[in-house]
Amino acid sequence: MLKDKNILIGVSGGIAIYKVLDLISKLKKLDANVDVIMTDSAREFITPLTFQTMAQSKVHFDMFGLVNEMDVEHISLAKKADVVLIAPATGNTIGKIANGIADNLLTTVLMATTAKMLFAPAMNTYMYCNPMVQENMDKLKKLGHEFISPGSGRLACGDVGTGKMADVEDIIYHLNKHFVKKDLRGKKVVITAGPTMEPIDPVRYITNHSSGKMGYSLANQCILRGAQVVLISGPSSLQVPRGVEFVPVRTTNDMLNAVEEYFDDCDVLIKSAAPSDFRPEISSDVKIKKDKDNDALTINFVKNPDIAAYFGRKKKDQIMVGFAAETNNLMEYAKKKLIEKNFDFIVANDVTKEGAGFNTDTNIVTIIDSNENSVEYPIMSKEEVADLILDKIVLNLDKS
Ligand code: PMT
Repeated sequence: MLKDKNILIGVSGGIAIYKVLDLISKLKKLDANVDVIMTDSAREFITPLTFQTMAQSKVHFDMFGLVNEMDVEHISLAKKADVVLIAPATGNTIGKIANGIADNLLTTVLMATTAKMLFAPAMNTYMYCNPMVQENMDKLKKLGHEFISPGSGRLACGDVGTGKMADVEDIIYHLNKHFVKKDLRGKKVVITAGPTMEPIDPVRYITNHSSGKMGYSLANQCILRGAQVVLISGPSSLQVPRGVEFVPVRTTNDMLNAVEEYFDDCDVLIKSAAPSDFRPEISSDVKIKKDKDNDALTINFVKNPDIAAYFGRKKKDQIMVGFAAETNNLMEYAKKKLIEKNFDFIVANDVTKEGAGFNTDTNIVTIIDSNENSVEYPIMSKEEVADLILDKIVLNLDKS
């Protein structure tokens, strides 16, 4: 999403400046173009050379070096920016921008830009709560600029309170949000993710290799695109995406009950979870002991409900998207599931392929629509696959 985007980072002087180096490194890995302007105070903390090395582009700070440039630097930087991030944003820099003061290269460029500004404030908690600082922030918000809320905790000065600059991941999330089209605004999307676990006894269970990555990526992208999201997830170690209503479940029956609660009211159901098809007929209340007379343990499995098939029969206007995880005969089995479960389309993945399926950051999918037309895609990140699926959902919603 940030690929080839021109991000202008204004760095003012605060101890949180060290986090901005990590931020730039991550933005470069996402193929964003990063320009950096440093204030004089920022250069007291870290040298421009460090920023220049991370950003792989010239760092700007010298207002009066302009005479040597062919280009009017502050105007070209201002025009080039797709978005401006001020991080760390000190009370001083926020105050100058809010009050139209342009006394250094950063504030001059910001006066000349029409790009949206995102501020990541970082300062002592008393400074942050100061009514003058708050008033300056309100002024900028009214002009359409955005503030990424600082965290609270022990600050560098030893005080405890609000003022810690937002985490790098949080800042990247806000940058992503800025660029994403909000084509799912007003839509309610229910996503199932991860494995389910079926208990054998209090200490043992059967499950599968699903990590939840595919489903959580879908939830993340849905949120960015403006949807209201319920994420129903089997056990997963992943961080819950911000902004979702999170419903943790354990067994396939739990998952079915959770979907039941939200289904009637949703516009879209995405079944990316890998629910167990079977469960032990009897789950022992106590730990099953090794019996020295027996060399084997026999467990009888019974079928779990097929959640997708159940809601496929029940659906009215909802768009239902399924997945098919196969190890062989991918297209044949996926098409069968598409019809039997009444999906609007199905995302087939061959989980034996390298870079596809369980617990990978990438996936290789073929999407088959209700007319059984299919499109095969190359290897992509799970975020990209999620966006592909959401693009198709938006088309289907537009048609209905
Ligand atoms: O979580 P990750 O590690 O990122 O891995 C991603 C994934 C491989 C789990 C994902 O890409 C995927 O393929 N999910 C579907 C897994 C699966 O259960 O496939 P299936 O072919 O067995 O089931 C077909 C469809 O029916 C699926 O939409 C499934 O959610 C649904 N189903 C299956 C069984 C069941 N009892 N109830 C269901 O609703």
